[in-house]
Amino acid sequence: MGALIKMTPELDLSFDVVVIGAGIAGLSVALSLPPTLRIAIISRSFTVTSSHWAKGGVAAACKHGDEPAEHLRDTIEAGGGLNDPDQVALLVGAAPEAIDFLQRQGVDFEVKPEREAGHSQPRIWHADGDATGGAIMRALSTRQREAPNLTEIEGSLIEILNDDNGVVGIMIAHRGSLVLVRSPRVVLASGGATGLWSDHTSPNSNLGNGIVNAYRVGASVADLEFTQFHPTAIALSTSPLSLATEALRGAGAWIVDDEGKRFLFEADPAGELATRDKVARIMYRHPGQAYLDPRPIGRENLERRFPTFVQDCRQRGHDPVLHGPVPIRPAAHYTIGGVLTGSYGETSVPGLYAIGECASTGVHGANRLASNSLLEGVVFGRRAADHLVDVSRTLHGVYYPGSVDLPTRAPTRASLTHLVDGALGIERNASAISSATERLVNASSTVEMGPCNAWELTLASELISMMLIAARERSGTVGSHTRSDERPEDPNYRLTFVKGSTLRREVRPK
Ligand code: SIN
Repeated sequence: MGALIKMTPELDLSFDVVVIGAGIAGLSVALSLPPTLRIAIISRSFTVTSSHWAKGGVAAACKHGDEPAEHLRDTIEAGGGLNDPDQVALLVGAAPEAIDFLQRQGVDFEVKPEREAGHSQPRIWHADGDATGGAIMRALSTRQREAPNLTEIEGSLIEILNDDNGVVGIMIAHRGSLVLVRSPRVVLASGGATGLWSDHTSPNSNLGNGIVNAYRVGASVADLEFTQFHPTAIALSTSPLSLATEALRGAGAWIVDDEGKRFLFEADPAGELATRDKVARIMYRHPGQAYLDPRPIGRENLERRFPTFVQDCRQRGHDPVLHGPVPIRPAAHYTIGGVLTGSYGETSVPGLYAIGECASTGVHGANRLASNSLLEGVVFGRRAADHLVDVSRTLHGVYYPGSVDLPTRAPTRASLTHLVDGALGIERNASAISSATERLVNASSTVEMGPCNAWELTLASELISMMLIAARERSGTVGSHTRSDERPEDPNYRLTFVKGSTLRREVRPK
């Protein structure tokens, strides 16, 4: 049985473009569109998104001695060779312009770029040390609030509306009501789905609802088996876990066990400088608690370059400057798959775009290179803006539903998290995936709850079900996770869910 929720007619709104999400991708597209367009930016929060919390920087080959071609090579190497090379070329080629764009919005980057694991050159641009995401979002939000054509609406996406010609708007939950927002162009910049794991670094609300909503109106989704785990989430609180940036290891911090031993070298000669997927895997297999020991960086350097790390630990009762080793554990950090897009963020549904973490542009392959995500948000946000103005779309009336039928029962979030942790972690196998699939089927509609909550968890269950299918199908080890029961296979395929047909397994673009 569902609940019939009445729409709120006096809040029936119309815009030229609707952007869902207020992170770096959403604000980059909104600020790159002509000021003559009336644009709504819809988000649950305008101060808490993954972008606000980003501790890494923006990768861009713009210093003498570095070339986009090298950035491209590093990106494809990290991605296990499953990247779409044309899309990567667009990403790295546009990176210097992305830095320029952010500077024009008021971001004050540090004068010298730094090097991070997986990058062959120092090309990571930071602002405010390990608070780069916060510094960027402050600048973009200031510009957004100054722009008279941008309307900020606090709300969450319920569904995308479409007719035979493409999208016509969205339905949102706004201050306890359902509200229709009409628009011929909808840009999804709604973030990823890492909130589905118990240990995660994103806001708790990142359950991938945008991705499922896009699929429901006909957009294809791909690469759902790939989720990136970050090895050094600070284990001093419950999720969302604060991140100790990878740059700490680059600057000399050690990873040690209970006995103070640097155990990474037993499994990888690069030790702390191994890439995040390798470090996460070694930590996962090593018994006992792991710690990040920042003391080799030196007190002055630590406080100057990593103020957010020091502050985050102190706020949670541990002073890393005075007391050293900080407990850490791997956490789900980034959703690599998502809504399949072309080179402008366009999806298979006319008028619907996807950019940033909710998108699968093909740039990350099977594993994202550090500091390529903020970059992707800007580059594809700006490309989507170009496409949006070039393609004219008008609405010819929209059916006004009056009320919407939402479920009032769904699996609990804890039950979903439990099965995601068990089957879709750093190390996976067919039997855990099958058992989670069975439990998911049996868990459907078990607990009574408010309709918006039930709807959110229903969409989350649909996404988990697709992730399990993709994880089962990818029986080899590549990129961000390991199959403990792996079978040798050519990994060069893409798993795409196309509405109305079964899962497609296609050779990836070369
Ligand atoms: C980090 O600084 O370790 C995270 C950066 C990223 O996710 O790219």
